[in-house]
Amino acid sequence: MRKDVLLDVIELNAGYGGKPVLQGVDFQVREGEIVAVIGRNGVGKSTLMKTLIGLLSTDKGSINLDGASIDLLSAHKRARKGIGYVPQGRDVFPRMTVLENLLVGESIAGKSTPGKVDEIYRYFPILKERADQRAGTMSGGQQQQLAIGRVLMGDPSMILLDEPSEGIQPNIVQDIARIMVELNRETGVTVVFVEQNVDMIRAMAQRCYVMDKGRIVAELDREMLQDRDTIRRYLSV
Ligand SMILES: Nc1ncnc2c1ncn2[C@@H]1O[C@H](COP(=O)(O)OP(=O)(O)O)[C@@H](O)[C@H]1O
Ligand SMILES: [Mg+2]
Repeated sequence: MRKDVLLDVIELNAGYGGKPVLQGVDFQVREGEIVAVIGRNGVGKSTLMKTLIGLLSTDKGSINLDGASIDLLSAHKRARKGIGYVPQGRDVFPRMTVLENLLVGESIAGKSTPGKVDEIYRYFPILKERADQRAGTMSGGQQQQLAIGRVLMGDPSMILLDEPSEGIQPNIVQDIARIMVELNRETGVTVVFVEQNVDMIRAMAQRCYVMDKGRIVAELDREMLQDRDTIRRYLSV
């Protein structure tokens, strides 16, 4: 069965105050896929994520979600349309407890779903254990799980993750990758993630786009992702 295209990015250009970074990014993600965007530091991966969620505006080209352009929508409206965004460095509210962080996620999304917190606790048991702990006192891996849990509170149809493995111990990287694959399988949520960690790419991605100098320069299929050296080679493009 061929699934429908959920995210269609066409000739996307964006940057910072006249400094062009994205210079014609083209790619597509189908409903229910897990797709990685890989590439060296500075090639524009975070800029792409920020443009997709609407923290940066589209200068040229377009971003289509489920067949409709979202270029003119604010980040806030895009979140309400079902895009969840976990920034690089994760950004949880350090002085709030784990549960308070989750409830903020619910209010950002503008809807509350009964039983959502418990569902998230099932995927991320550590968040239940630490529900009353201040987020800033947790490890990087725990904070990453909280940041993901926080966007899940809004019941997104697509999650954007920017370098989820950054600063996290290898065994926790594997745990997070496994949970994301489970979530995807059980809920059908689409996942687009930026990564440079070969283990996380292999554990999570079904397909992969390679970015260089503000463009997508290659695509790796499932078979190519089997080979660590292939991934390493493309990470150093
Ligand atoms: N806030 C900003 N203002 C100006 N330039 C920026 C800003 N953030 C990133 N850049 C520049 O944009 C380019 C792409 O950065 P980024 O998207 O963060 O790359 P990546 O995530 O692939 O490491 C880099 O040259 C970086 O210096
Ligand atoms: Mg980045």
